[in-house]
Amino acid sequence: MTILVTGGAGYIGSHTCIELLNQGHKVVVVDNLVNSHSESLQRVEELTGKNIPFYAVDLSNEAEITKVFSEHSIEAVIHFAGLKAVGESVKQPIRYYDNNIRSTLVLCKLMQSFSVKHLVFSSSATVYGLAESNPIPETAPLSATNPYGRTKLFIEYILNDWITTFDGASVALLRYFNPVGAHASGRIGEDPQGIPNNLMPYITQVAAVRREKLSIFGNDYDTVDGTGVRDYIHVVDLAMGHVKALDALIHLTGSHVYNLGTGNGTSVLELVQAFQQATGQPIPYEISARRPGDVATCFADSSKAERELNWKAVRGIVEMCRDSWKWQKENPNGYK
Ligand code: NAD
Ligand code: UD1
Repeated sequence: MTILVTGGAGYIGSHTCIELLNQGHKVVVVDNLVNSHSESLQRVEELTGKNIPFYAVDLSNEAEITKVFSEHSIEAVIHFAGLKAVGESVKQPIRYYDNNIRSTLVLCKLMQSFSVKHLVFSSSATVYGLAESNPIPETAPLSATNPYGRTKLFIEYILNDWITTFDGASVALLRYFNPVGAHASGRIGEDPQGIPNNLMPYITQVAAVRREKLSIFGNDYDTVDGTGVRDYIHVVDLAMGHVKALDALIHLTGSHVYNLGTGNGTSVLELVQAFQQATGQPIPYEISARRPGDVATCFADSSKAERELNWKAVRGIVEMCRDSWKWQKENPNGYK
């Protein structure tokens, strides 16, 4: 199949392009490079020996995206494009609503006019808000605590409404837990701009002595050691989840939601320890105040994806740490 991958130059998108190409699909990428570099796609081409037609345009530019649909026989879309920084979304809510929602509306409209019937959407565990119990199943109540989270929630609602108007079409809403790690080659990985907000990229930059020490946001939660517990998932497992979702969507109609996580909770201190063991790098840290908006614990019930998509995460914490570190070590300044 020919798959349009929006946001394909980004972290999860580039890893997914590799898995799609390795499975024999053709890939076309649209990405405005607001949070990525085209170098990631060149490296995907190197790793797979395949060519990727690439459009460096904004997904909300209807005229440009119409050209993309006209020039390729696209059969399905994986939609990663979006802004994703929680703190930034609080400061720039209109930019987030405009970018994430308007581009999705343009995409839906063009998919329908070009009769492209299958869409995989990057949602997030953030749509569970401050979940009260774990593991979290897809049926848990939905809410959002910030504008970024609300864009994900609103887009889920929009896609659910849209799909009922599109005969024979199907959409998968994939709710990711905490993606970490990198391709085992060390050639592609996460390349955060500025100071990382997320734990794993912060740890790898401390290991590389780009940052002095890690601040652990609170050690008084009701968890195994007082630090926050999350469900870290290797980005290559996550990428495979998209391939499996696509395989399933071809035979489905309507909207289908899946959690993509490992089902295992790991605390901040456990992750720091695992990283030190896996890489031999010391991670100095200090305990600081809780980060507003954080929950104590969040991990997935991913049994629905296992049952219906025949997908399961197979890479463990050691592999996540090792691959994150290999990427950081071999690309100290990311793609720059
Ligand atoms: P990323 O920033 O690396 O990738 C997103 C890509 O979309 C970037 O390359 C960016 O340049 C592009 N983009 C943004 N707005 C665009 C627009 N209007 N037109 C064209 N391109 C645009 O982020 P990622 O970590 O790969 O995340 C991919 C998706 O998964 C995002 O939608 C994100 O919200 C979602 N998600 C990510 C995480 C995570 O922790 N990484 C967790 C849950 C959900
Ligand atoms: C965060 C976002 C979430 C988003 C997800 C993936 C918030 C409140 N939530 O989730 O919406 O979907 O990233 O992009 O921003 N930690 C530290 N020190 C650090 C960084 C993190 O102790 O320097 C802790 C956090 O308190 C948390 C854990 O590490 O307990 C994981 O944090 P992070 O990687 O930011 O992910 P989430 O908070 O789960």
